[in-house]
Amino acid sequence: MSPVTHSHHSAHATRIAYVVGARPNFVKMAPVISELRRRMPDGRHALIHTGQHYDRLMSDVFLEELGVPAPDHMLGVGSASHAVQTARVMEHIEPVLEEERPDLVIVPGDVNSTLAATLVAVKLGIPVAHLESGLRSFDRTMPEEINRIVADEFSEYLFLHSDEAIENLRAEGIADERMHFVGNTMIDSLVAVEERFRSANAARNLGVEPGNYLLVTLHRPALVDGPLLADVIARLDDVSRELPVLFPVHPRTRKMMESMNLKPVPAVWLTEPVSYLEFLSLEANARAVLTDSGGVQEETTYLNVPCFTLRENTERPVTVRAGTNTLLGLSPERIDDILPALAHPKTVTEPPPLWDGRAAERVADILQTTGHYASLIVG
Ligand code: UD1
Ligand code: UDP
Repeated sequence: MSPVTHSHHSAHATRIAYVVGARPNFVKMAPVISELRRRMPDGRHALIHTGQHYDRLMSDVFLEELGVPAPDHMLGVGSASHAVQTARVMEHIEPVLEEERPDLVIVPGDVNSTLAATLVAVKLGIPVAHLESGLRSFDRTMPEEINRIVADEFSEYLFLHSDEAIENLRAEGIADERMHFVGNTMIDSLVAVEERFRSANAARNLGVEPGNYLLVTLHRPALVDGPLLADVIARLDDVSRELPVLFPVHPRTRKMMESMNLKPVPAVWLTEPVSYLEFLSLEANARAVLTDSGGVQEETTYLNVPCFTLRENTERPVTVRAGTNTLLGLSPERIDDILPALAHPKTVTEPPPLWDGRAAERVADILQTTGHYASLIVG
């Protein structure tokens, strides 16, 4: 791509397309949209929602709480197999990108929508920026690992949230020039709403005592799409005799629990997914969190809440080094270790470098000072 050498008169207002589809995408993208809108009020900022997630509590509630304007394009792809879902996003997003003619497409994270949008944009010759680039679990049985590798390979701007990503990308032959260590935009979102969630009292509203419950969220296919899920529920039943368990259930997990007819004891409180502010409030006040979520490993690190991760690996080892996150393995029986572990005093941790609420500003700085955006974006 050659730098734009247009004179001031022929420079057009910068056009950016932001692609989101699944719950964590909204949280990662919101601060970037807001910062780029602020710096480029005359630019075109087109929000494309693929519709990978569509329940109100998996989608709209995030845009509302984070103050993101309604999407300009709703692709409505919905749920399907990997191939069908990815193909539908590709098919629906191509005409939208042709119509929008963006100078840049920004994609977050590692979901199927990320993969699909990247492939379509790059084949239309539109540069792509990838938020949360360079994470690797080194486990290619995870759909997210495939999605990340492709997004990183074809993106022009790789925005890194932790420095360990640098080595991961170098190992794949990616040049340092494409990498920009900006920090964690998911933490930007958290910081931006901190006063609101600190005063939300979500635990009390649900009838549990703040500081005295285990918060649970699980949705990885490797855990919930098979027999391990029954073992998890049995172990949670045991924990709940000593510590109440609060479990907002992801729709994938809900579907699996219903099909396997799994019913935990009443001290395991099952709820619908909760809103972003409610969830942050529940995380901040939890005695501990049990999860297989990527974002939750990060948020608990920032909040200094003990997190136990039911996975063999994590693409976020920075959270383990920080001291908040413990990998239990894909081993429900290790849920028994949580209560004894909580008897030990909590270590006080610092958030990882650049998890400071200002990552989106750095994204905007880089887009303004590198490549061909320098001449287009008026600061
Ligand atoms: C997706 C991402 C995963 C991410 C997670 C965040 C992929 C491959 N997976 O997993 O990386 O961690 O989102 O939450 O992109 N469903 C509903 N309502 C909804 C959305 C989904 O009922 O609004 C149900 C459907 O039955 C669907 C199932 O959940 O089949 C799974 O949804 P899908 O988007 O395919 O994958 P997730 O497990 O949500
Ligand atoms: N989250 C939420 N409500 C819930 C569960 C999670 O608001 O009931 C938020 C959480 O705070 C984090 C994001 O959703 O910001 C994480 O998304 P998820 O676990 O679905 O995806 P992952 O991070 O694993 O890709």
